[in-house]
This record gives sequence, structure tokens and C-alpha cells, in this order.
Amino acid sequence: MDFKAVIFDLDGVLVFTDKYHYLAWKEIAGELGIDFTEKDNDRLRGVSRAESLEIILEKYEGEPLDDAKKADLLERKNNIYREYLGEMSPSDVTGDVRDTLKKLKENGIKLAVGSSSKNTAFILEKTDLTDAFDAVADGTMIVRSKPDPEVFLKAAELIDMSPSDCLVIEDADAGVEAAIAAGMHSAAIGAARNSHKAEAEIESVADILNL
Ligand code: BG6
Ligand code: MG
Repeated sequence: MDFKAVIFDLDGVLVFTDKYHYLAWKEIAGELGIDFTEKDNDRLRGVSRAESLEIILEKYEGEPLDDAKKADLLERKNNIYREYLGEMSPSDVTGDVRDTLKKLKENGIKLAVGSSSKNTAFILEKTDLTDAFDAVADGTMIVRSKPDPEVFLKAAELIDMSPSDCLVIEDADAGVEAAIAAGMHSAAIGAARNSHKAEAEIESVADILNL
């Protein structure tokens, strides 16, 4: 595969914060009488916080919720999630990830993050990953979440690369779709491998070095 830059999704690729999203949403869903499963959680990968709530509410059977109530649920979900994030440390990044970032950089490959999360800066800081990247595009910089390509196009712009020179690493179907819509190469890891939509499937981040 011919690429000059790698754009990494964050949650579920560089760090396993996807389990914290799941636990936080499960608590909120439970309050609403909704049975929230790990399968439901897979639909929220890559999707913005507000859109995630709408997907969860597809199973809701109570009184209609107004915008103020939804805003309150979103804030509380984020507070629960950030309590988990607050416990994170550099040891939450695997050696596999750190070594691969280092080797790619040594090979002259530009590195960026492309995440829908508004907590990206906080997570990178807690895990001591901020300086590993040439640029970070995140949920605070975009108006349309994945599967829209906006966040990946923003990342490519920040590192001054053409989309066709970029490879996106994703654990979300929505993210793979966004990479394809951006005209970028794509490699699926974790949950996104099941749908076989990406150009390549990898078992671990180190497999990027063999693409
Ligand atoms: C993505 C996650 O990275 O970020 C989604 O895969 C999440 O599950 C989205 O909803 C938004 O995250 P945050 O941190 O802004 O609530
Ligand atoms: Mg992800």
C-alpha cells in the first residue's frame, strides 16, 4: 500500500477508552430503563456523543425527553466517562502502539490523529501521546461526525498531505466509511474488521509496518 501519512482513530485504536464509553453509556441507559449491550455499543463507535444518545434512545419507551433533559444526559455521560479518563496514565498505551509510532516516524511517515471525540486532547495528555503526532484533528474542530470525512480531511490538511497519500486506521465502520469518503486508504482493526469494508484488515497496530 502506498502512503506517506497515517491518520489514527483514537478510541479503540490507540487507547481502549471504548470500554469506558460503554460503561458510562450503560449507566445512563440503565436510568432510562434501557438494556444497553456491547452489540449496541458497537453502533456508537466513531459516532458523536449527541448522535450516540439518539441511537440509544431508539430502545427507549418512557415519556418523551425534551432538549434540556437530553443535554443533561449528555453532560452526565461525559462526566462519568471523564472520571474513567482521569485514571488513565502512559501505561494505558501498549508497547505495540508506541513502538509502531516510533518506527513509522523514523521511516519519514507523517502521523496524525483523527477522532470524533471532544476529549481527545485530555486523553492524549493523560497517556503522554500528544508529542507523538504531527497534528491532531478532533471533535472540537468539526461540525459533521464520521461517517462524514470531515475530521480526516482536516487531519490531512493539518499535515499538508493529499488524501490519497493518507492511510486511516479505524475500529469503527463509520470511521472506515469516512476514510473511503475522504479518498484515503483504510485499514480496519478490532470491531471494524467484521464488515470487510476497509482496504486492509490488521490484527494489531504493528501490522501497519507490513502494509
Ligand atoms: C469516538 C468514539 O471516538 O468519539 C465514540 O468512538 C464517541 O463512541 C465519540 O461517541 C465522541 O466522544 P466524546 O469524548 O466527545 O464524547
Ligand atoms: Mg474508534
